[in-house]
Amino acid sequence: MALNKKPYKGTRDFFPADKRVQDYIFSKMRESANSFAFEPYDGPMLEEVELYKAKSGEELINDQIYSFTDRGDRFVAIRPEMTPTVARMVAQVHREIPKPIKWYSIPNLMRYEKPQRGRLREHWQFNCDIFGATGRNGEIEILQLIIHLMKSFGATSEHFEVLINDREIVNTVFNDLMKVSTETSYKLYKIIDRAKKVSAEALDKMIGELSLEQDSVNILKSYLSVKSFDELFSFLGEYDQVEKVSGFKELSDIAKKIGLDKFLVYDPTIVRGLDYYTGIVFEVFDKNPENRRALCGGGAYANLLQIFNESPVAGVGFGLGDVTLTDFLITHKLLPDFSKNSVDLYLTFQSEAALAKSFELADQIRELGFSVLNSLDTVKFKKVFQGADKNGARFVALLGDQELEGEYIQIKNIETKESFEVKFSNLEELEKIFS
Ligand code: HAM
Repeated sequence: MALNKKPYKGTRDFFPADKRVQDYIFSKMRESANSFAFEPYDGPMLEEVELYKAKSGEELINDQIYSFTDRGDRFVAIRPEMTPTVARMVAQVHREIPKPIKWYSIPNLMRYEKPQRGRLREHWQFNCDIFGATGRNGEIEILQLIIHLMKSFGATSEHFEVLINDREIVNTVFNDLMKVSTETSYKLYKIIDRAKKVSAEALDKMIGELSLEQDSVNILKSYLSVKSFDELFSFLGEYDQVEKVSGFKELSDIAKKIGLDKFLVYDPTIVRGLDYYTGIVFEVFDKNPENRRALCGGGAYANLLQIFNESPVAGVGFGLGDVTLTDFLITHKLLPDFSKNSVDLYLTFQSEAALAKSFELADQIRELGFSVLNSLDTVKFKKVFQGADKNGARFVALLGDQELEGEYIQIKNIETKESFEVKFSNLEELEKIFS
């Protein structure tokens, strides 16, 4: 039986046109991170499952992790997320290096999910995290960085929004106002996390199954109806709880002062499925109703280093997925056309006698800093332009018997059809022609 040519379910083959899109997206990610003075890091593909068990949450462990026992009897997993890895790495060095520590990475991750639009089994995720920043300052810079990145693709507040909440607020509502047990609070987190994915009736049903006191249900309902920062602070004001969330108030005030507020929307249903978050939690959403998916998720986690017996170092960060980001860019027509390769020169020769010269010239022109696609075979004159177009070349070079004898190449600009004769001995002239 012939083997299957398709990639493993939920993974992608990146043909050159797909790879060009990915390279473009990654280059924007790197540019943004570098412009905020983040440093790149990387980690292993495999980690011990224990690392995720400690804090990632039951959905990831029970349903999504790819795990196996290795030949040395170690129970390992293909990384489903990067945060435990970066926390483990920071735990090794945080005492010796100056803070805040600002690191980024673009790992591929694997999660056993049902493949669908925006969800695959393998995706690449831009991760940026700050460790050891003072107060809420790291959180503000993380939000600033995401918005900077989105803007670098040409996106505006018309296209996307950052839905934000704070686990301190959620804890205040669940524990201090509703006074539910720790166990019920945990269940409520999981229910609220699903609020956007299920109907209002299904949400009511899940809440009903918790058998809460009517007062608590009323508080929960009025909390879930909050739609803005102002409404939030007046809701908490009614219960005298604004003081408790002063940090979040401060963050929202600074966001307003620096103009981030037009991207930020307070959303009580954003709680995030991962267990380690302790402070702000946020997700970037496409505003297009046809693509209502989180492009990015993140938040602040105060205690992740404690699983390594290290003193607490506050962390905050986000993961932004390539699948959802690409869908977003396509939906809003923000993706340049990468269907063709882009090369400076398509160098063709018309007679066998020019073969060696074509290799020599190609290399000399590459030395000048230009990309050269050598035809590697004779090309009939009438096929030259067609070949150049297919290969995304800006210029073509013709090397027929006449040129070989006269020791020059004929260069043509594909767009303007301008023609130039450049002597073999004077290739530097190309710098002007190609600029
Ligand atoms: P997450 O919300 O699980 O967070 O993932 C972040 C983003 O990765 C999602 O918003 C989505 O765009 C993308 N993503 C996740 N799973 C898939 C999938 N199966 N297919 C395609 N894209 C996916 C985290 O992973 C946190 N560790 C992020 C973080 C970093 N928090 C703090 N620092």
